[in-house]
Amino acid sequence: MKRNIIWHQSAVTKSDRHQLNGHKSCVLWFTGLSGAGKSTLANAVDYALFQHGIKSYVLDGDNVRHGLNRDLSFREEDRKENIRRVGEVSKLFVDSGHIVSSAFISPFRCDRALVRSMFENGEFIEIFLKCPIHVCENRDPKGLYKKARNGEIPDFTGISSPYESPDRPEILIETDRYTIEESVNKILFVLKERKIL
Ligand code: ADX
Repeated sequence: MKRNIIWHQSAVTKSDRHQLNGHKSCVLWFTGLSGAGKSTLANAVDYALFQHGIKSYVLDGDNVRHGLNRDLSFREEDRKENIRRVGEVSKLFVDSGHIVSSAFISPFRCDRALVRSMFENGEFIEIFLKCPIHVCENRDPKGLYKKARNGEIPDFTGISSPYESPDRPEILIETDRYTIEESVNKILFVLKERKIL
């Protein structure tokens, strides 16, 4: 199909925005099981960055599924589309000069690889929140594991749908071993080390 769509170059470039902001932009891609701490840590990082006057934002699975992606289920092809769209939105945020913390289970390696391929070198920072499923299940902040075990939620990640761990994430955090503060500091350290901040 001929789409007749031609890319329009922005008058203000990403690097103009970096210069104005005094820092670079990137995506912090949090992946891990439900209850591993993605939303908590993404928000804690966002808060710390905001306190330092840095342009940042959080994209969260539960929230995005209330609006933009409300038409998507948890079937494999819908999760794929969820991650593709969120990858594109993350890219817009990076283009706008933000450090965007994207918190999605994103269980499939190929979908995370697709998102990585949308970004320039060094812009995509994968953060694997590693946490044993029994710990996530004990936390069960939304009561979803209990429902999934009772057969009330089909295709539940870790129970009736797979989670593929990253092989070489930029950052690995075992969330059952470190405090939120320690984990935030680890992420900020990497941002400084990579000269994003
Ligand atoms: S993803 O797999 O497509 O990346 P996403 O991060 O958007 O998932 O949404 C996950 C959140 O949706 C979970 O934290 C949980 O609160 C809720 N949820 C509802 N049903 C499911 C399910 N079947 N599997 C996993 N999470 C679910």
